[in-house]
Amino acid sequence: MTRVRKAVFPVAGLGTRFLPATKAIPKEMLPVVDRPVIDYVVEEAREAGIEHFIFVTGRNKGVIEDHFDVQVELYDTLAQRGKDHVLGDLQRMQPAPGQASFTRQQKPLGLGHAVWCARELVGNEPFALLLPDMIMQSDPGCMAQMIGLYEKTGGNVVAVQECDPSETHKYGIVGRGRATGDGFEITEMVEKPAKGKAPSNFYLNGRYILQPEIFSILANQARGAGNEIQLTDGMLKLKDKQDFFAYPYSGRAFDCGSPEGFVEANLAFALQREDMRERIGGNLAGLLSEAAGLSRKRSRA
Ligand code: UTP
Repeated sequence: MTRVRKAVFPVAGLGTRFLPATKAIPKEMLPVVDRPVIDYVVEEAREAGIEHFIFVTGRNKGVIEDHFDVQVELYDTLAQRGKDHVLGDLQRMQPAPGQASFTRQQKPLGLGHAVWCARELVGNEPFALLLPDMIMQSDPGCMAQMIGLYEKTGGNVVAVQECDPSETHKYGIVGRGRATGDGFEITEMVEKPAKGKAPSNFYLNGRYILQPEIFSILANQARGAGNEIQLTDGMLKLKDKQDFFAYPYSGRAFDCGSPEGFVEANLAFALQREDMRERIGGNLAGLLSEAAGLSRKRSRA
């Protein structure tokens, strides 16, 4: 079985759910506590053993490339001022020379199209795909857990989580088949099924391990839901020829492409930090009792 060495990060979306914050700043650069969202996702891939990071960017996303580049003056100044721990943190996140590649999706035609834009950089080998909107909280990370399943099953592996059955129309949903190890075989996949038509409540949470044959399928993929070239439609075609397995991920997932998910992520990650837990936790308790008072007042009115 070929090892998964490369990861693709599609970062060309417009982020319309998070306007006006994302008018001039890519949503991937919004900070969760003190690191941009994209750092968490790259870290998850690195922890899973990924050696090459491929970013599919778009217009106004140049700052992501700068973020992963060396900033000589800043590094020198931090070293002169003895801020070695800050410098060490920056250097740890820094891909080594040649470890990161950037390509542009010239028009935001959909996730399937963004993935196809990475075909030359991925080449003929399996790859990890991580949607940077979603950040995960677990130890080990979601991708490391998925690689564990992939090493047993091969084929294609997607991570899934359970949503409220009334919400299935918002997601890509998979049908559940025979159990295999920590996961299960996928019987079908459908992007944003009509209400009442979903095969289960297991939704695709934005983490995939895919075989390179997906690229030739995406090259001819017609537009699907939302008039976009959908990855789920491409995966469904690949499923006719190759095995697809689901890995039910049990950690926390935050959709940082939406303001609510982003605020939740900030709280969850701040509360994990020794240096912040007490202060933020204390303030949160006060804010929650104030909010409960407001809700009670509104329900009496
Ligand atoms: P989303 O639909 O969540 O991203 O796509 P979006 O289009 O930026 O968000 P909204 O709905 O307008 O707020 C999921 C992932 O696919 C990438 C996005 O950057 C995100 O990581 N994507 C989507 C692309 O790279 N290109 C596209 O054409 C569409």
